[in-house]
Amino acid sequence: MEKNEEISFDDFDELVNPKPEENDFDRILEVALTRRGLLKSVVAVGSLAALGSAATLTPSEAIAATNRFAFDAIDANTLDDITVPAGYSAQVVTRWGDPLWSDSIEFNHATRGSAESQARTFGDNIDGMEVFAHGDKTLMVVNNEYTNRTTIWGNRAEGKFETDDDILKGKMAHGLTVVEIAQSDDGEWGVVVDSPYNRRVTPDTAMEMTGPAAGHDLLKTEADPEGKTPLGTYNNCGNGSTPWGTYLACEENFNGYFSAADEAHEVSPELQRYGVSASDWGYGWAKIDDRFEVSKSPNEPNRHGYVVEIDPRLPDSAPKKRSALGRFKHENAELVVNNDGRVVVYMGDDERGEFLYRYVSNGVFAPGGETDSLLEDGKLYAAKFADTGEGEWLELNPETSGMASMAEVCIHARIAASTVGATTMDRPEWVTANPNAPEVYCALTNNKNRGIKPNAGGDETPAGGPNPREENLYGQVVRWRPNGGDHTSNEFSWDLYVMAGNPKIHSDANAGSENISEANMFNSPDGLKFDSNGVLWIQTDGNYTNAEAFEGHGNNQMLAGDPVTGEIRRFLVGPNECEVTGLTWSPDKRTMFVGIQHPGEKGNSHWPEGGDAVPRSAVLAIKRDDGGLVG
Ligand code: FEO
Ligand code: CA
Ligand code: CA
Repeated sequence: MEKNEEISFDDFDELVNPKPEENDFDRILEVALTRRGLLKSVVAVGSLAALGSAATLTPSEAIAATNRFAFDAIDANTLDDITVPAGYSAQVVTRWGDPLWSDSIEFNHATRGSAESQARTFGDNIDGMEVFAHGDKTLMVVNNEYTNRTTIWGNRAEGKFETDDDILKGKMAHGLTVVEIAQSDDGEWGVVVDSPYNRRVTPDTAMEMTGPAAGHDLLKTEADPEGKTPLGTYNNCGNGSTPWGTYLACEENFNGYFSAADEAHEVSPELQRYGVSASDWGYGWAKIDDRFEVSKSPNEPNRHGYVVEIDPRLPDSAPKKRSALGRFKHENAELVVNNDGRVVVYMGDDERGEFLYRYVSNGVFAPGGETDSLLEDGKLYAAKFADTGEGEWLELNPETSGMASMAEVCIHARIAASTVGATTMDRPEWVTANPNAPEVYCALTNNKNRGIKPNAGGDETPAGGPNPREENLYGQVVRWRPNGGDHTSNEFSWDLYVMAGNPKIHSDANAGSENISEANMFNSPDGLKFDSNGVLWIQTDGNYTNAEAFEGHGNNQMLAGDPVTGEIRRFLVGPNECEVTGLTWSPDKRTMFVGIQHPGEKGNSHWPEGGDAVPRSAVLAIKRDDGGLVG
């Protein structure tokens, strides 16, 4: 079966790996009835309580909170352009296909490049990103999550590859790009062409596997009989960073690149749980690389689905796959140094009905000390939320999962989390920790299957707890506070920061929580990141039809949220058919960098160049016109 552009990755996974249909009418009815009561209690302990706290602020606290937003909200729109508030300006720093070296080939709008040009230019579809100060240099690392076939092969009939070079061009558009960036005399940011730090990390780059899974039989292949040196990273979605100066790239939909020439080939149940099948998503990698022919390389998919640590200061270093953080469809990795020095990483698995995870290191972080073991040696947990507003982290280990080793637990983390009874979530996307309080937020983007059908492992997905709406179209942001402010505590309390919705057309729960109005409505929160002042930035990857259930939402956007008052204001609207994702700041906090992914994914954008130009994913630099701080 072939995936077309109109169908989402999750929908395609469901088509090729159909899940059991729900047919127990009595149970559905019971869930529906329970849901009505639950929704009230969730809203009571959730967003309404958060908003209620605004009323109890002292006047000076209220003013301080209001002043967090140094801009006037902008309206939703459907322009093929970037819109930012008055007093702010946005410029393009770099785009898909821009040269990294002086001998790189410039982007060609007619051919959209070749494998050779793509391998030495900026990758496609920008996602997670981070900026690092390194001496007097500014280094930027950017995920290039995937490529839109009808865009990159838009020079071919029907937007499909025709040659092996076309396939390799698509492959080289994936991975990451590391660049040195600098400001010109007039303050414009750009790439330092020929910087020794510039680097492409691709699906073919040599890597090192670390942690419990390294060397396990499930990771051994003909090309790597020791199971320790996988090649490549791809479909890197969100990101994280460490206090020791490294970048964390998170492998998400790795399954969609594997296929078998024999369409009837059946993969193992474990691979099916991760969505691997005989059909890929139309990228064709197996036609040029046997690693992706799953009948020949059945262990290759076990070597992907990890958090990958990359040191941008060492352009020749092998990235390290951190198996201790579990294998699943990683969205991002939010690293917090706990009060006792242990490293805690919060991570979402972005698929309908999958789980939220936490990793806790055994060792402690000390500036200047050894850091290599901190992401190799620790404990892995999955979250269980109770409807009461409490929750707990359930440890995943051989005893709790019934698996033979910690290696298996890490490789099959989804299956271990199902075994311990973790809570099925509405597609956990980015997680971010408040720098001013021991609390953590996660975007639950949407889940049309909530209350309708089980997840890929057969776990039921009743509406309730932090996932209160059946057939959830709009998404919500959940937050939790670890007991005693200790991120290693296994207990937490939770509430909902916001339920997105549409108050223009709904008056029930689909209107959203009380901090949503016709002035700030949005759908499908995805990117989520606190700035250093404690403003919560929310980026969307949702429905941009601006019609019916989404009337008034406009194009995808970025909003700022106040964690104390619950106020949310729209800051940026992206061009047509894009997703806004990836956010970081310059070391002096006077520039905010924002990623624009897949503009014109259905063929209706020429951003950023306009005219007849091919739309190109790009990194924006946004500054205040008065040169003030932006984060
Ligand atoms: Fe790549 Fe979950 O978004
Ligand atoms: Ca995302
Ligand atoms: Ca998304």
